[in-house]
Amino acid sequence: MQLSDHEKAILAGDLGPEAKKVLEIMYKVYEINGAKDFVEVDEVMLASTQNMSIGGVMGMEFLTALAESGVTFKAKTITDPVSIDLERWERLRIPADYAENQHKSVQALLKMGAVPTWTCTPYLAGSIPRYGRHLAYVETSCVIFANSFFGARTNREMDISALAAAITGKTPRYGMHLAENRAGSLLVTLETEMTSTSDYDALGNYVGKIAGSRIPVFKNMDRKVSTQALMQLGAALATTGSVTLFHVFDVTPDIILDPDAYGVAGVTEQIVVNADVMKTARREMNTTENTDVDFVSIGCPHYTIDKIKEIASYLDGKKVKSGVEAWVCTSQTVRDMAARSGEIKKIEDSGAKLVIDTCMVLAPVKEMGFHTMATDSAKAQFYVSGFGIGVRFGTTKQCLEAAVTGKWRG
Ligand code: F3S
Repeated sequence: MQLSDHEKAILAGDLGPEAKKVLEIMYKVYEINGAKDFVEVDEVMLASTQNMSIGGVMGMEFLTALAESGVTFKAKTITDPVSIDLERWERLRIPADYAENQHKSVQALLKMGAVPTWTCTPYLAGSIPRYGRHLAYVETSCVIFANSFFGARTNREMDISALAAAITGKTPRYGMHLAENRAGSLLVTLETEMTSTSDYDALGNYVGKIAGSRIPVFKNMDRKVSTQALMQLGAALATTGSVTLFHVFDVTPDIILDPDAYGVAGVTEQIVVNADVMKTARREMNTTENTDVDFVSIGCPHYTIDKIKEIASYLDGKKVKSGVEAWVCTSQTVRDMAARSGEIKKIEDSGAKLVIDTCMVLAPVKEMGFHTMATDSAKAQFYVSGFGIGVRFGTTKQCLEAAVTGKWRG
């Protein structure tokens, strides 16, 4: 293993114990995975939320110490969502001390040179991965989308291994960085029509459980499938499975370039998804029978401008029911576009909140006392169910109807 002088200095402790620990973990990852060398990365995506492994007070103190030691990022480094809306966290009922700690982590990351994207859809905000290039991304929906939609190459990094990639500009070459590990192995034939983006959530939820860490290949999917639908599919696959890549015949780049290598040669199992399978999948994602909804949260992964327009058009002139909290999550970039086109006014005049920088999974919603959440996202459904909140899963329109009426109509 070749080390640069900078890396040798960090390992000798010249930049403090935090930086030394980060690099030691990166070399452990290298050894455990049998990597033969390192690969330079075009871009790194870091975790920065207060709710995850590098989060909380300890995570904030770790990042602050790292920044104060003089560490700077060698790679271009973007940032995953945080746990608060950095501009308007008070209106989300987030405690002040929690917000203060999050702001300190943010300051530490900025001091080291991070680009403040704070979104899981950075490709909608100008960070566009290129085919065949290497990345070190941490957020699972972004990892699978970068690998599948763009044909870039990234493993599902841990918080610390992504930090190491940011500091060194490289990552161990194993897993998704190698072409031979990117062939599809589970062929999924669609024998039903997909009619909403949440259908792709239900599909991903179902297939992810079967796939585990394998690579699904979808056959018969509409060639005109929207970007938002593929974002939903990827996020769901990466939630119920640990899927890091999927292929869609005639749609995603690896399989367009070489259908046999990526969609045929490595297939060891085939499944069929028909209308009955989809009906069961959707039904099983409802974890409560309760029809009174007090939280509606949509925009996971962070919505595109197209989806924001759809929401604004529905909510225009309507009011969210008193006692219902309604969040529409997106990135700052999409929010700014929506502000200029007048969509935000339509959404916020209804009483719904356009939330940026965070989401229903990363914000401390568990402590906010909600009983039943409506969502159109499989990833949100999975994690928020784990917080002990009942979940109603359905289409975006069903969720918006629940926001306005306070009732779930399945
Ligand atoms: Fe993004 Fe939060 Fe969902 S980070 S993918 S909106 S859980």
